[in-house]
Amino acid sequence: MKIQIITLFPEAVEPYLKASMLWKASDRGLVEFSLINLRDFGIGPRKTVDDTPYGGGDGMLLKPEPLVAAIEYAIEQNIEYRRKNKEKPQRPIVLLPTPRGTIYKQSDAKRLAASNRDLIIVCPRYEGYDERVTKWVDEQICIGNYVLTGGELPAMIIADSVVRLIPGVLGGEKSAEIESFQIDDQNIEFPQYTRPEKFKGLKVPDVLLSGHHAEIEKWRKNQ
Ligand code: ADE
Repeated sequence: MKIQIITLFPEAVEPYLKASMLWKASDRGLVEFSLINLRDFGIGPRKTVDDTPYGGGDGMLLKPEPLVAAIEYAIEQNIEYRRKNKEKPQRPIVLLPTPRGTIYKQSDAKRLAASNRDLIIVCPRYEGYDERVTKWVDEQICIGNYVLTGGELPAMIIADSVVRLIPGVLGGEKSAEIESFQIDDQNIEFPQYTRPEKFKGLKVPDVLLSGHHAEIEKWRKNQ
């Protein structure tokens, strides 16, 4: 899977992609990330990307031309990448994180991971974007009922939640375990403990030390 992230702040996104599970996944060739700097598509000698809103109002909006040019560039780059890999080019899914989007759930992460399609995530900034941009977007996604300063953190959340579901990214065992505890779109995970057996007066539940697999399973389900 290829994930292209369009952002004005690639330097904010890069460190996260270069650490953690996401780095391991790209190191193993299971995912390929590419950062596209929206500023490169800015207009004029000052590479302008924003302007004041029609009708008045506070703040600046991202202009449609740079955003759409960046999305079109990302699509072209993606098709080229697929051709080079001798794979059938397929239109990537264009995602736009916005507080006005549909609430993102585990089922969305599963759907995107299973779609066999690449992702383009467009990170808006400032007070918003020209609404006409949404014509170039497949899904508007809200990661929670709060407002952030930009789409970079939501983009990381989407990328992380999708990539961990790609087979081979997590240990097979762990992912299978999580799947079996999935109820109503929520990951229900039981509490877990590791050594030491006693920590500041707090003991690991006896059943987990019993070696009795059926009892452990029952306890975990109850939790
Ligand atoms: N941009 C700002 N806040 C956001 C949110 N809650 N979800 C997605 N994108 C956002």
